Amino acid sequence: MCSCTYCTFNKFIEIAFTQKKPLHNSILSIMTTSERVSVAGGHLSDGTRYGADKVRRFATSRYGTIGAAFLDSALNQELDSLVPGKRVLDIGCGAGNWCVTAAQYGAKSVDGFDIQPEMVELAKQATSHLDMVHIQVGDAADMPYDDDSFDVAISLFVTCNLPPNGFAKHFQELHRVLVPGGKALLLIPTDWSHSRLYTKIEADSSTIKSEIAQILTTVPKYPTTSQVTEAFRNTDDILVTCFAVDDKGEIFNVTNTSQLSHGQPIWRKTEVMTFPNFFYSDQSTIDQFVTNGFNIAKIDNHYKEDKRVIYNNSDPAIPLSTDYVKYPTALVYHVSKP
Ligand SMILES: C[S@@+](CC[C@H](N)C(=O)[O-])C[C@H]1O[C@@H](n2cnc3c(N)ncnc32)[C@H](O)[C@@H]1O
Repeated sequence: MCSCTYCTFNKFIEIAFTQKKPLHNSILSIMTTSERVSVAGGHLSDGTRYGADKVRRFATSRYGTIGAAFLDSALNQELDSLVPGKRVLDIGCGAGNWCVTAAQYGAKSVDGFDIQPEMVELAKQATSHLDMVHIQVGDAADMPYDDDSFDVAISLFVTCNLPPNGFAKHFQELHRVLVPGGKALLLIPTDWSHSRLYTKIEADSSTIKSEIAQILTTVPKYPTTSQVTEAFRNTDDILVTCFAVDDKGEIFNVTNTSQLSHGQPIWRKTEVMTFPNFFYSDQSTIDQFVTNGFNIAKIDNHYKEDKRVIYNNSDPAIPLSTDYVKYPTALVYHVSKP
C-alpha cells in the first residue's frame, strides 16, 4: 500500500471503523527513553507549559495567521451545529476563545479548564461577561468534574501537550465526563515529520533546510525550550517544522515520523512561537478512541486546496507553500460515547 499521508490517513479511518487495531507493543520500552529526554528537555510531567510571556503571545495570535485562516471558520461551523442548548466542556481551554464561541452559539453552559494558571486568568477575563461560562485550573488527565456531566466536549490542540500517561488518561477522562450519547470534537496535529518544510514562500526549501541545519549546530545538547526558541527567533519565514533530541542529546530536524517514538518530547516551531510538545501518531489517537469505546463518526482535514485559494485571496501578500495544503497538519476527530 502507498505510504503517502492521504493513504495512511484513509487506512486510519478504516482501522477506526473496523476497531481491530491493537496498541503498539513497543510503548513501554520507548517510554523510558522519552521520560529521560523529557526531564532533560525541561518538560513537566503534567503537560507542557509555555511560560507567562508565551501564554500572552499564544492568546493574542492563536494558531497563527495561517492556522486561524484554515481552522477558525471550520471550527465555528462545527460548534454552531454541536453546542446549542448543550452543556459544553472545553478541555485545555487556553485563553478561552472557544468558550466564548460556544456561549455565542447558544450553549446552555460552558465549563473550561486549563493546566496553566496564566491561561486560566486570560480565559476568565475573556468570559467575565458570560454568566453561563465557568473557568478553572484543571488537568486533562484528571478532570475536575463528575461522571456524565457534559453533552459535548472539545479538546483542541491539547493532546500533543500531554506526556504519555496524561495522553492515555485524557481519553479515559473524556469518556467518563460525557453523558451516554455525548459528542466530542478533537483537533490534533498530524504529519509531524515535516519532511516538507512549510514556508511563506514557494522557494526551494533546500535553502531553508541548510539555514536550519546551520542554526542547529548552535543549539546546546539537551536544550531547553528557551534555548530552542532563542536559536530560531529570527526565522519567521519557517511556518511549521519540528525538532527532537536524539539519544545523545543532540537536537535534530524531524524529517520522518519513524524518527520519533510514542510520547517523545518534541518542539514544534510555528510562525507564532516554539512549543514544547509530545509526539503521538494518528494511529495512537485512533487506538485511544477504540480502547475507550468511542464511536468515530468522522475525521476531517480542513487544510484543503480550496481553503488555500480563499486564504490567498484574503491575504495575497503571504502565499503559502503548496505543500502546506497538500498534507494535513491537523485533523479534526468527531467521536461520540455510545
Ligand atoms: C495549543 S493550546 C490550545 C488552547 C485552546 N484549546 C485553543 O484551541 O485555543 C494547548 C493548551 O493545553 C493546555 N494544557 C497543557 N497540558 C494540559 C493539561 N494536562 N490539562 C489541561 N490543559 C493542558 C495548555 O496550557 C494550553 O493552554
